[in-house]
Amino acid sequence: KFASPVIPVYFHVVRSSTSLSGGSVPQSQIDAQIAVLNADYASTGLSFTLAATDFTTNSTWFQSADDCSGRTYQTAMKKALRQGGANALNVYTVGFSRSTGDCSGLLGYATFPSSYSSAPTDDGVVIRYSSLPGGTAAPYDEGRTLTHEAGHWVGLYHTFQGACSSTGDSVSDTPPEATPAFGCPTGRDTCSGGGVDPIHNYMDYSDDSCMTEFTAGQATRIKSQMSTYRGITF
Ligand code: ARG
Ligand code: ZN
Ligand code: CA
Repeated sequence: KFASPVIPVYFHVVRSSTSLSGGSVPQSQIDAQIAVLNADYASTGLSFTLAATDFTTNSTWFQSADDCSGRTYQTAMKKALRQGGANALNVYTVGFSRSTGDCSGLLGYATFPSSYSSAPTDDGVVIRYSSLPGGTAAPYDEGRTLTHEAGHWVGLYHTFQGACSSTGDSVSDTPPEATPAFGCPTGRDTCSGGGVDPIHNYMDYSDDSCMTEFTAGQATRIKSQMSTYRGITF
């Protein structure tokens, strides 16, 4: 029994207070974020539908539900909030505002597909709330942080994975790249041979406005990872 390639998305807004400055994201930004996901994944055959939104006021989780100070808080947060099976994308928006650790520049992080049997508590994506479309995290304010993190969740590596090695990101049509690209550089070419760096790819580190594509090879990898690990057929 397989799920369809329509991914149910459970959106968990974790905030420090009920105000916008406390990370309380308006529903309009969540809807805009789902629209960005659907536009960006259109070429891959995957689509996303908002299954539910919930709001939790917890300033501890809001500040450091992440890797910058160990996994204590994210484990508790996900255990309390996660919904659905291995085919469901759980998204947590938080502030990453803790002053200790290396939270300050963090936009998000994700779990990769793996051999989950049923509802995997740890599985999902945690992103900075201000990275949603219309947020305040410019130049990362067009919703591409979730596009990128969901890319990991569907089984993709960074385009600069493995640097200039031949295996790289395990996708053959993304040219090798020695290091992440930032901003939106022109004609960047960090490995000899294979073509210019794929700086417009969603799995690089460029500005949101610079990111425009998944390749056909990435779409193929997504399909195989999603059917193997998340019970999804296309
Ligand atoms: N640095 C993060 C990661 O490695 C996210 C990068 C998102 N980039 C963006 N333009 N929004 O997963
Ligand atoms: Zn990444
Ligand atoms: Ca590649």
